[in-house]
Amino acid sequence: MGYIYKEEVIEWLKNHLDEERFEHSLGVAQTSVELAEKFGQDKEKAYTAGLLHDCAKRFSTKELIDIINKNLSVEECEMINPKTYHAPAGAYIAEKEFGITDKEILSAIRWHTIGKLNMTDFEKIIFIADKIEPRTRPQEYINYIKPALDKENGLDMALLQCYKGTIKSLVDRNLKICMSTIEIYNELLSKYED
Ligand SMILES: [Fe+2]
Ligand SMILES: [Fe+2]
Repeated sequence: MGYIYKEEVIEWLKNHLDEERFEHSLGVAQTSVELAEKFGQDKEKAYTAGLLHDCAKRFSTKELIDIINKNLSVEECEMINPKTYHAPAGAYIAEKEFGITDKEILSAIRWHTIGKLNMTDFEKIIFIADKIEPRTRPQEYINYIKPALDKENGLDMALLQCYKGTIKSLVDRNLKICMSTIEIYNELLSKYED
């Protein structure tokens, strides 16, 4: 992704996101690069995935459902909560609008909201960066997740914190929890059980 193209993407995002979400996208791009550096992943790809992860966030629910129904085959858990529709639709937009063909980037965008079992390190990085970027995420929440990155198996430890936080928050807000969220949480717990 060259400099000019990057500028074009930023301009597109500025026109298609509200101000806070635009700031958040820049924050996720930057934090994804930092995590890619820390955990030995491709920084350029991490920047691209972070920058584009919420590209469909301001589309209406109807537009998102249209994109999904016409072009994608999705799993049941991806359709449980309208707040997550922008993830599969965003991967589609990244491919069609920006010509992204890299499967890791597209997959990281697609799964950045609900995650999935056996995520790659690259997918985990974008997922976690979305939660801890410093431009718009609350410091309290960052503090809840970020220290886990420095532990052994830091990406999984931080991911576990993310899932703990998400499950608690879904329960508090009376929202449905998809089974894969519970499965991922259980998998992470049992992976490191003593
Ligand atoms: Fe998102
Ligand atoms: Fe996001």
